[in-house]
Amino acid sequence: MNATTAFIGGGNMATSLIGGVIAGGTDPSAILVAEPDARQRERLSQQFAITVTDNNLEALRRDVVVLAVKPQLLQQVCNQLAQSDRASRPLYVSIAAGVRTRAIERWLGGHAAIVRCMPNTPALIRCGATAMFANPVVQAAQRELAAGILQAAGLTAWVAEEDQLDAVTAVSGSGPAYFFLLIEALQRTAVTLGLDQETANQLTLQTALGAARMANESGLSVEELRARVTSKGGTTAAAIASFEHNEFHQLVSEAVHAAFDRSRELADEFGKDK
Ligand SMILES: NC(=O)c1ccc[n+]([C@@H]2O[C@H](COP(=O)([O-])OP(=O)(O)OC[C@H]3O[C@@H](n4cnc5c(N)ncnc54)[C@H](OP(=O)(O)O)[C@@H]3O)[C@@H](O)[C@H]2O)c1
Repeated sequence: MNATTAFIGGGNMATSLIGGVIAGGTDPSAILVAEPDARQRERLSQQFAITVTDNNLEALRRDVVVLAVKPQLLQQVCNQLAQSDRASRPLYVSIAAGVRTRAIERWLGGHAAIVRCMPNTPALIRCGATAMFANPVVQAAQRELAAGILQAAGLTAWVAEEDQLDAVTAVSGSGPAYFFLLIEALQRTAVTLGLDQETANQLTLQTALGAARMANESGLSVEELRARVTSKGGTTAAAIASFEHNEFHQLVSEAVHAAFDRSRELADEFGKDK
């Protein structure tokens, strides 16, 4: 990443992204963070040797401005930027969950190049899954700049329609919690079957990790992998039959639809002018 980049908000996600892009070879001097908390500024400057400021308007002199504040604060931040230097036309990359580009563009005063991203929490350990949407103002080279930043946090994928980000939110955004829930249920059951808590936790976690790695690295579909460990009349077959009897697929589908509906509602709420 040779372009200059500013982060507005120097919290968890910004820290992870900055660590990732610097590890990927970006010169720290190309990065600025605008952050109100003095201790956090000091921490970021010590950790990464980057420039820090408490003035968000300084971000506007950079090629890319990453909006990394909480969604509820985004309007206030954008309104402040809109009142400043009208000549600067940076690419805005928003990682604020659930805030649509139309709202961000309106708050910035119109006609802005905006890439909206939906990362998930494993981004904090650079194992995230991020979907990205570019509004029509964004140029091809700017797409690459945005992807270069988010790739520092893991896998990235573009979606063609912004509405698809609600599906992304329901699948990969909230998804880590679904897997945590399954792991939790398996750990609890393991204890009821007589394993001690630590052994139950270790075996369950390693199983989740091993299954994810096999699904990722074997080149086989998850259906095929499942069929291979499910011998007729065996233990896995007994468990899968019980899952199916209890309509596991339907259960997951209803849960993910609930997240999808909630994502749309929240986007409507976040997009209202305050
Ligand atoms: N964490 C995740 O895994 C995750 C996943 C998907 C999406 N996101 C999105 O990423 C964004 C950032 O999340 P986060 O977890 O990094 O939150 P965070 O740790 O709270 O970081 C936000 C930072 O913004 C600072 N800030 C507050 N008001 C500001 C202002 N007016 N100008 C500049 N900076 C300001 C905060 O400072 P103070 O602490 O002093 O208020 C804080 O350091 C959110 O919009 C969230 O929806 C996060």
